[in-house]
Amino acid sequence: MTSPAKPRPIIGGNWKMNTDHTSSLALAQAVAKTSSTVADKADVAIFPPFPYLLQISQALCAAGSKVMLGAQDLYIAEKGAFTGEISAAMLKDCGVRTVLVGHSERRHIIHEGDDLIAAKLDTALAAGLQVVLCVGETLHQREAGETDHITELQIERGLKHVKTEQLSHVVIAYEPVWAIGTGKTASPDDAQNAHNAIRAVVASMFDKPSAANLRIQYGGSVTAANAASIMSQPDVNGALVGGASLKPEDFAAIVNAAAAN
Ligand code: PGA
Repeated sequence: MTSPAKPRPIIGGNWKMNTDHTSSLALAQAVAKTSSTVADKADVAIFPPFPYLLQISQALCAAGSKVMLGAQDLYIAEKGAFTGEISAAMLKDCGVRTVLVGHSERRHIIHEGDDLIAAKLDTALAAGLQVVLCVGETLHQREAGETDHITELQIERGLKHVKTEQLSHVVIAYEPVWAIGTGKTASPDDAQNAHNAIRAVVASMFDKPSAANLRIQYGGSVTAANAASIMSQPDVNGALVGGASLKPEDFAAIVNAAAAN
């Protein structure tokens, strides 16, 4: 029996609170250029800071690029008195097509809880945006052997209102907290085990075919050097990249590794 085809890989560049007016545009243009050669083999998304979304959207459009523009966060209300927040409609108005929710920096620095994360995910899906739900255990949880338990809870809570037919608009990013920005990466085997457990949770919540088609990215100190070995694992369908996404050559190498997979 041949194994089913892997879902199309997706690489995300999470720029976090980095770049400026000039460098964000240059970086987006570099990503558009290198990604054009892999457009039929892998999806590429970038998540710039909010202030630069519109100019990057215009640049991607002018270049005829298929790179998906993403936002790092959104708020759950449509509009009104929510000082400092940004709605799904505003993001779409700026050309955004995908959004991160539940990133570990928002869970652990901004203290977002699972209920707010689920509400953000629902808001994004209702607006027709693709959502990347980020999950992952802390070092303490990993050392206590709780990795699969934590990701299961985060997925069950994050996807609690999602219907099976909406799952094709969801991507999961498994990002062990201890690996983010630290230079420590999960081994390919550890990533595979965590991804396999995540897919089993999704299969039990929805159904097996939907779980098989779900794209699960690995994130946490992905580099040009380690991307290929992690993404070659059967349940790894791309990467969510922080630090290395700010370096055009490194990000291009990661995108090319995904396309070659
Ligand atoms: P990193 O960040 O690649 O710098 O570890 C990944 C992320 O936070 O998405």
